[in-house]
Amino acid sequence: MYAMIITSDFKPGDRVFTPTNHGQGGQGSYAQFTLANQDRVARIPDSLGFEQAAALPVAALTAWQALFDRGGLVAGQTVLIHGGAGGLGGFAVQFARWAGARVAATCSTANVEYLQGLGVARVIDYRREDISQAIHAWEPQGLDFLLDAVGVSTLPDALDLVKSGGTLVSIPTLVDDGDFAAAAAAAQAKGVTRIFSTMSDSNCAANLRTIAALLADGKIALPPIRVLPLTEAAEAHRIIQSGHNRGKLVLKVADL
Ligand SMILES: NC(=O)c1ccc[n+]([C@@H]2O[C@H](COP(=O)([O-])OP(=O)(O)OC[C@H]3O[C@@H](n4cnc5c(N)ncnc54)[C@H](OP(=O)(O)O)[C@@H]3O)[C@@H](O)[C@H]2O)c1
Repeated sequence: MYAMIITSDFKPGDRVFTPTNHGQGGQGSYAQFTLANQDRVARIPDSLGFEQAAALPVAALTAWQALFDRGGLVAGQTVLIHGGAGGLGGFAVQFARWAGARVAATCSTANVEYLQGLGVARVIDYRREDISQAIHAWEPQGLDFLLDAVGVSTLPDALDLVKSGGTLVSIPTLVDDGDFAAAAAAAQAKGVTRIFSTMSDSNCAANLRTIAALLADGKIALPPIRVLPLTEAAEAHRIIQSGHNRGKLVLKVADL
C-alpha cells in the first residue's frame, strides 16, 4: 500500500507506515492508495521491508496503548497476556518484557515454544492447564496487570486473578464481549482498574516511531508473518476467523 503524503513533515518517496484512518470512517488498507492523517504516520525503519512494516501498525499500537497509554504498566509488575500468540499478543509480551515486567502468557500447545522463545517467564498451555491454578501458583498474591486479547468469555475468572489495586485491560474483539457495565462494576467493587482499550488516535505517530526504534535496536522482533496475495483475501479471513493464527497475516495488494 502506498500512502500519499500531503504534509511538510514528509516528502514524496518516503517509506511510511500507518494504521490508516480506519475506525474513523476513513479508508482501510486493502488498496494501493489510501489516506492517513499526519499524526497517524511514521517512517519505516530501513531494516524493514514493506511486507514486514504492514504487519505492525494496528497490532502493535493496540498493544502499546493498552499496556502503557491506558494501562500504565511499569517495571517490576507481574502481567498475564491472555492470547500471547496472536498478532497483538506477540507485540504485547515483548513490550511488557521490554518495560521490565514479569510476564506470563496463555496459548495453545502448538505455540508454547514460540512464546518461550519470546522470553515469556510462564507460558500457560490453556489446552493442558487450568489458567487460574497456574496463575495462583506463579503469583499467589495475584497479578498486577492482566491484558485480555482473546475475549471476556474465554477467561471468565479474569478478575479473580488480579489483585486489588491492579489493572485488568480487555481489547474489544469481534466476538461477544459480554456486559461491559457489569464487568466494570465488579472490578470497581474489588478495587481493580477496569479498562476496555480499542486502538485510538492518541499518540499514533509518536508511538509508531518509538516502536520502530525498538525494532531497529533489536529490543523487540516482529512476530512471524505470512504473506498472501489480495486474491486470497477470503482465505486470509478464514484463517483469522479460525482464531488460531500465529503472528500476523499480510495481504499483498501490489508488487512494488
Ligand atoms: N479493538 C481494537 O482496537 C482491536 C485492535 C486489534 C485487534 N483487536 C481484536 O483483538 C483480538 C486479538 O487480535 P490479534 O490480531 O492478536 O488476533 P489474531 O492474530 O487472530 O490472534 C488470535 C490468537 O488468539 C489465541 N487464542 C485463541 N483462543 C485462545 C484462548 N482461548 N486462550 C488463549 N489464546 C487464544 C490464538 O493462539 P492459539 O492458537 O495458541 O490459541 C491466536 O494466536 C482479535 O479479536 C481482534 O479482533 C481489537
